[in-house]
Amino acid sequence: MGAQFWPVTENFAAEVGDVDLSQPLSAEDVAAIRSAFDRYAVLVFPGQELSTGQHLDFARHFGPLETSIATHRKDTKLRVVPEIADVSNLTPDNKVWGEKSRQRMFQLGNRLWHSDSTFKHTPAYASLLYARSIPPVGGHTEFTDMRAAYDALPVATKQKIDRLVCEHSIFTSRAKLGYTDFSAEERAAMPPVPQVMVRTIPQTGRKCLYLASHAGRVFGMDDAAGAALIEELMAHATQRQFVYTHRWRVNDLVIWDNRQTLHRGTAFDDLRWKRDVQRATVEDVANSCEQAGLKVDLQATG
Ligand code: OGA
Ligand code: MN
Repeated sequence: MGAQFWPVTENFAAEVGDVDLSQPLSAEDVAAIRSAFDRYAVLVFPGQELSTGQHLDFARHFGPLETSIATHRKDTKLRVVPEIADVSNLTPDNKVWGEKSRQRMFQLGNRLWHSDSTFKHTPAYASLLYARSIPPVGGHTEFTDMRAAYDALPVATKQKIDRLVCEHSIFTSRAKLGYTDFSAEERAAMPPVPQVMVRTIPQTGRKCLYLASHAGRVFGMDDAAGAALIEELMAHATQRQFVYTHRWRVNDLVIWDNRQTLHRGTAFDDLRWKRDVQRATVEDVANSCEQAGLKVDLQATG
């Protein structure tokens, strides 16, 4: 029997059974999973026992992997290989992090609604998050459906935003939490990038809002008006009717389409419980403006 799909709602999020991701997959299973991924945008694979190598091998079915941004940070020793983003609350020797640790401050950013790596010129396409240990309470991950959010906008808003471009920067989301302590070298390694505000998914023709906590300015608008528009659209997109909350079990692998969703982690007692979740990330094919055939003059803000 091939992979079985159990939708959470008609078109958003599905659980997948009868597939063992530690083994090589049949071409039929790969095709079925990829097509379900386009449709549901979030897939949950429960009960997977994966080595890091098997986690990465499954991720490679979706395209080339990105390297974690933690590799830019000279002050941290990595607990995991460079292809894995360490989303845990653990130090390299597997202890719960310190209250004042830089890693903790940095990862607080995951509590804000975002899409992965939109602050990179080529953003993330798919993220595959695997839970090795989870807290008994809290620490869920929420996803919002940016196709449904786009569809629900008034026509006038759709027309206004259809060709807009935002500036995304990792330092924008961190500044929202009051965290600005980055070296000149770190800032230079991750300059702001443009991303479209609305994207069309080539596989389905569906339009999605494309935003993130990393989005700060809108090209061609003054800073305050751009920021207000972004906040208004984020508030619209993250209303409960668009949201699926994933309550983790150990050995869940959850994969989401960053083009079609936003996500955020919810609070937990991170100084008490270990939450060991690790992410493999597949790159998008190009910057979202390039994919839309838009040429953006990076200087032309304001
Ligand atoms: C991520 C992320 C949130 C969480 O892995 O990209 O934002 O719940 N995770 O850990
Ligand atoms: Mn994320």
